[in-house]
Amino acid sequence: PRVAVVFGGRSSEHAISCVTAGSVLAAIDPEAYEVVPVGIAPDGRWVLESGDPERLRITTPDALPAVDAGGASLSLAPGGDPDGRAGLVVTDPGSPPRALGEVDVVFPLLHGPWGEDGTLQGMLEMSGVRYVGAGVLASAVGMDKAYLKVVLRDAGLPVMPSVTVTRAAWQADAADVLGRLRGLADDGAGARRPVFVKPARGGSSMGIAKVGDVTDTDAVRRALEGAFEHDPKVLVELAAEGAREVECGVLDRLPDGTGGSGAGGSGAGPETSVPAEVLVGDDHDFYDFEAKYLPEQSTRTVIPADLDPALTARVRTLSARAFAAVGCEGLARVDFFVMPDGSLVVNEINTMPGFTPTSMFPQMWAATGLSYPDLVDRLIRLALA
Ligand code: DAL
Ligand code: MG
Repeated sequence: PRVAVVFGGRSSEHAISCVTAGSVLAAIDPEAYEVVPVGIAPDGRWVLESGDPERLRITTPDALPAVDAGGASLSLAPGGDPDGRAGLVVTDPGSPPRALGEVDVVFPLLHGPWGEDGTLQGMLEMSGVRYVGAGVLASAVGMDKAYLKVVLRDAGLPVMPSVTVTRAAWQADAADVLGRLRGLADDGAGARRPVFVKPARGGSSMGIAKVGDVTDTDAVRRALEGAFEHDPKVLVELAAEGAREVECGVLDRLPDGTGGSGAGGSGAGPETSVPAEVLVGDDHDFYDFEAKYLPEQSTRTVIPADLDPALTARVRTLSARAFAAVGCEGLARVDFFVMPDGSLVVNEINTMPGFTPTSMFPQMWAATGLSYPDLVDRLIRLALA
């Protein structure tokens, strides 16, 4: 089969997607698949890439890889295959249009808006092209931390209390917003709890800030304005103080019921990986961008997480329930807080989790018995099935 690996993209996670693509391109079996690497430049142009995984390594924050949009740009058109197996036709509008051929499946290795949020998925649906991962609605819900909470809460899953603040609401009536934030942070015993300010549709911790005391109006303003640079809609969420951070991978089974990892249990529903724990180093306030991706950080991951068997089972069960509640397909990574009293809270769900060398998703599957190349192969086979 011919696989278009689409990466880069217009979101602030462009560079992370490039690193993710570098790892995936290096792992796709060239005997089994013909790969067409398609980059999306930050300005939205689609370009044919060399697909050289070496070029896409992460090194320092100043040297994050990016799609180079020099030269011709590409456009997409439905393939119009008479069998209904419409492929993706890539043309080069520079000189006379040149069809670059159809593809059997698209692997959208994109994080954030215009890629992980249902927009690309909608375009692929309209073109009749198969693709890896979640569909339009699940992608959109997973991307938007405010709507995600609505969906998870409705399914009876525990989430942190939060307040949604739009830029328009902040500009219209800051005093009202500050009042709502005081209500959120009030612990009922006269003390104020810290909060996190997060862009609703962000990723990789970009634009996130912690505010220790919401009555510090300047700190609130700085945090909101930083988050509004990423999204006009922002979530102010009670900080899970003293919590441990645990993640879990979810993967659909192939139609014949085969799992592949052998460790995910049997029966219906998706498989879940062993959970992992993030131990954020003292030099970071939280699991921020640098702690997530840059080498030689004090942040450590423990895989499998050191949790008692009952808690491990509960993480896995809740991961599968969150996957179902959102309507995910293919894959997802569900992130949790283990609260000091031992209860679990779902922090978020990522419908296209990072696949960089330091990313949790592939590492958790490796620890569960599914190697990186087998994981990539499984995802493509799920989309083709
Ligand atoms: N948003 C990043 C890529 C992740 O969830 O892994
Ligand atoms: Mg995320």
